[in-house]
Amino acid sequence: MTTTITLVRGDITRQTADAIVNAANSSLLGGGGVDGAIHRRGGPAILAECRKLRASLPHSRLRSSGGTPIGKGLRTGQAVATTAGELDAQWVIHTVGPVYSREEDRSEQLASCYRESLRVADELGARTVAFPAVSAGIYGWPMDDAARIAVETVRAAETSVDEVTFVLFDEAAFEAFGRQAR
Ligand code: AR6
Repeated sequence: MTTTITLVRGDITRQTADAIVNAANSSLLGGGGVDGAIHRRGGPAILAECRKLRASLPHSRLRSSGGTPIGKGLRTGQAVATTAGELDAQWVIHTVGPVYSREEDRSEQLASCYRESLRVADELGARTVAFPAVSAGIYGWPMDDAARIAVETVRAAETSVDEVTFVLFDEAAFEAFGRQAR
């Protein structure tokens, strides 16, 4: 089964897909960037499901990037699904990317975000999935490397998803993904 990779420049909250992936944080309670945009446009139903999901997660010793203990939380590299609320999709798949580190190679955690999101998409029966450039904003991952990991991981994934669309917010991100997807 071949998964088609498509690149689009734009706002992921305007994308039509079976599932839209959110670059969330461990708390699942929202934030800035893609996360903020998804909750704003998708409406309160998404956060309501996130709260329920979070309550079912084990307590974690994780801390937010700002150092605040997050209590219950989704581990970095994992993914969970909720309704997509008012977005033009059936589901939002929330994944937690790693904060970029110069000292520690966290590439495997970033690759895991794509693999786990596609695994959740398969469980749901989603055939089209839209991804942002996970970790390449507030979490600081250099765009070229984020694009390489994203494209290589999706290419190598064993999934029933027919089409993965990377929705890139700006021209630099679009070009970085373009260099990888050629
Ligand atoms: N559509 C598509 N891409 C977007 C959009 C959008 N509407 N908005 C931003 N981007 P980020 P991260 C791009 O920061 O680095 C949140 O606070 C952005 O330019 O959204 O994984 C969460 O709660 C960048 O290229 O995600 C976490 O705490 C890419 O999407 C933290 O940020 C990812 O940027 C996650 O940080």
